[in-house]
Amino acid sequence: SEVEKTEAEAELGGYPHYMLKEIFDQPEAIRNAMRGRLDLEEATAKLGGLNMNPHQLLRIQRIVIVGCGTARHAGIVGEYLIESLAHLPVEVDYASEFRYRNAPLDGETVVFAVSQSGETADTLAAVREAKRKGMRVLGICNQVGSTIARETEGGVYMHAGPEIGVAATKSFTSQVLVFLLLAVLLGRLRYLSARQGKKLIEAIEKLPDQVTSVLSRHKEIRAIAEKYADAEAMLFLGRQFQYGIALEGALKMKEITYIRAEGHPAAELKHGVIALVDERIPSIFLCPQDGVYDKNVSNIAEVKARRGPVIAIASEGDDRIGKLADDVFLIPQCSELLAPILTVVPLQLLAYYTALSLGRDIDKPRNLAKSVTVE
Ligand code: G6P
Repeated sequence: SEVEKTEAEAELGGYPHYMLKEIFDQPEAIRNAMRGRLDLEEATAKLGGLNMNPHQLLRIQRIVIVGCGTARHAGIVGEYLIESLAHLPVEVDYASEFRYRNAPLDGETVVFAVSQSGETADTLAAVREAKRKGMRVLGICNQVGSTIARETEGGVYMHAGPEIGVAATKSFTSQVLVFLLLAVLLGRLRYLSARQGKKLIEAIEKLPDQVTSVLSRHKEIRAIAEKYADAEAMLFLGRQFQYGIALEGALKMKEITYIRAEGHPAAELKHGVIALVDERIPSIFLCPQDGVYDKNVSNIAEVKARRGPVIAIASEGDDRIGKLADDVFLIPQCSELLAPILTVVPLQLLAYYTALSLGRDIDKPRNLAKSVTVE
């Protein structure tokens, strides 16, 4: 009806699509995810919803993260964050695989189920199976009071606000932020000093403004998207903290543009992926300043030697990358732990503007549903 149409337009707040609105919601969404959860005095994060006291948190010996689609990709970033800050072994699995495995788990394992909707059937089934095995299961959900939120012993709400576009965007950055908080909390109970904790918290507080600055340069991404919109396929490559972002960038691209897109750890190129490279297949490299920057640079050279176009997402101040890559987008300088939240934003925009130039139905891509409640 006309009334519904006007209401929908009001919710869009002037944006042509929910996806674009939700991409631009991200500074606010991550601000909401951190609100009241940073404790500068104690140099740690506070996550009361976990319903676990410090003694119980200290006894955790292993973490298993389950989810589907975008949620699993956030879990992969979470794996690297928790391992590096808290030195705890972390395993990430597709919820749908986990539920049928007979994985040996013990009482000191905590399972995190990640789900924007809190209603995904595969994730819910994984929650129930883990509970049946006597595991403590916690949720990282956006929808308050959703089934997964209700069936878990506790967890962390994302507070991202409603996400309507089928392609998840702000829920992803909020999930990564929640994992960052979790890693700080678990780290501060173990290896992280007060000084390191404080430095991280100060850096986390800067993230919303840094995301805003990335978004303000959306036109640069639009130009890159238009240049490559007729690509036959695309490769997304990243390592370590950027590995999950490579997977997520490829998922966004295929979901809304239907371009074949693959995400891989950059070093895997030489183990098969590089066979795909030619002048019609651009490679998007995630190469901010981090511990594997030089390795990424050699991988870029390998792709260029095979005439593959390269789009690099790098850090401000990088004066090498411009000579190697065909197109470069620079993110603000930050710790490698925080960079995933900044590098994913240009990839979301890249998928969006590519879909726009191909005339795709961005908020309702073919064959996909926002929330899959069947197995
Ligand atoms: C569907 C959506 C994806 C989403 C996944 C998990 O496949 O199309 O965008 O990432 O479900 O959804 P959830 O609500 O559990 O995060």
